[in-house]
Amino acid sequence: MTTNNDRLFLITGATGNTGKTTVQLLLERGHWVRAFVHREDDRSRQLAATGAEIVVGDLLHFHDVSAAMRGVSGAYFIYPIAPGLLDATVTFAQAATEAGVRSIVNMSQISAPREAASNQARQHWLAERLLDRTAMLTAHLRPTFFAEWISWWWGRQGDEGVLRLPFGNGRHAPVAAVDQAYVIAAILEKPEPHDRQVYPLHGPVEMDHYGIAEAASRALGIPVAYEPISVEEFADGLASLGASTHLIQHLSNVAIDYQNGVFQGTNNLIEVIGDRSPMTVEEFVIDRRYAFDRNGSRFVPPKSASDSSERRMFSDDENYRTS
Ligand SMILES: NC(=O)c1ccc[n+]([C@@H]2O[C@H](COP(=O)([O-])OP(=O)(O)OC[C@H]3O[C@@H](n4cnc5c(N)ncnc54)[C@H](OP(=O)(O)O)[C@@H]3O)[C@@H](O)[C@H]2O)c1
Repeated sequence: MTTNNDRLFLITGATGNTGKTTVQLLLERGHWVRAFVHREDDRSRQLAATGAEIVVGDLLHFHDVSAAMRGVSGAYFIYPIAPGLLDATVTFAQAATEAGVRSIVNMSQISAPREAASNQARQHWLAERLLDRTAMLTAHLRPTFFAEWISWWWGRQGDEGVLRLPFGNGRHAPVAAVDQAYVIAAILEKPEPHDRQVYPLHGPVEMDHYGIAEAASRALGIPVAYEPISVEEFADGLASLGASTHLIQHLSNVAIDYQNGVFQGTNNLIEVIGDRSPMTVEEFVIDRRYAFDRNGSRFVPPKSASDSSERRMFSDDENYRTS
């Protein structure tokens, strides 16, 4: 690899939605990149093939994280929607501080106020405050729902698509993970102006889920319906598919936040910081057409509670993330 400077960046969640593109962008820009991955698999091998140094570890294991920080100048921290966010944050902060890391970018979320009802969202707020107490240049990202949500909860039977979600008439401007990666890479490259900033990240067009269904319909050329469901029905559906109580508690509460307008709004931070025009929903659906072309879903009514194809999709869908 040819590098344009001697800075080394550590990217956690490197096989995840935002991490993998951040790794690619930094490599393309000639930086050294250490990709922290949870396991060795095809995703990590793809990162290695493009020139990233691969480190396998667990964000909850201090010695893994400490070893990965050696020589690092800037680091991106993400932790999935799972128990352990605060442990992982303290671990990351201590390891980075000991290693003399200069700057960090922290993935939080828009529904992370001090009073958040979701346990995970409140922990995101606490994690932000903890990282603010370090001496490192620190920036927090608070995205609204990712555009990827549309594919995670997508249902299709033949030539009809459906989104069954507990969002009522609430609105947001879906923001693609790839667009967020441009912001993450830009802040890592030049962290000074972003110190102690909290950035809500939005896509280009705010819409409700009727509008999102229409945009998906235009992109795919098939009818797509939005069918609002109750938060309870959503939670029951998640439980029947084997989701953890932590995830159900989080998603149920953010659904209520969503209905109350917490996720709404739009801004131009992807352009201003990331120097990138963010994708519209139509562009996103066209780009991920493979995810929308297959039949099946989590919430299109399964033939029976034990419908095995339904369960298989939930557990094996490589696009599904607990975030
Ligand atoms: N999705 C949304 O709409 C949304 C909106 C706002 C904010 N967010 C925030 O975005 C974050 C998720 O970001 P993302 O979507 O880029 O990530 P992601 O796709 O969910 O990927 C998570 C990554 O972390 C790795 N990982 C999981 N547990 C780990 C552990 N214990 N140690 C080391 N690595 C571990 C996973 O590897 P494996 O797959 O190998 O386990 C994966 O690479 C969450 O904090 C969420 O709150 C999401």
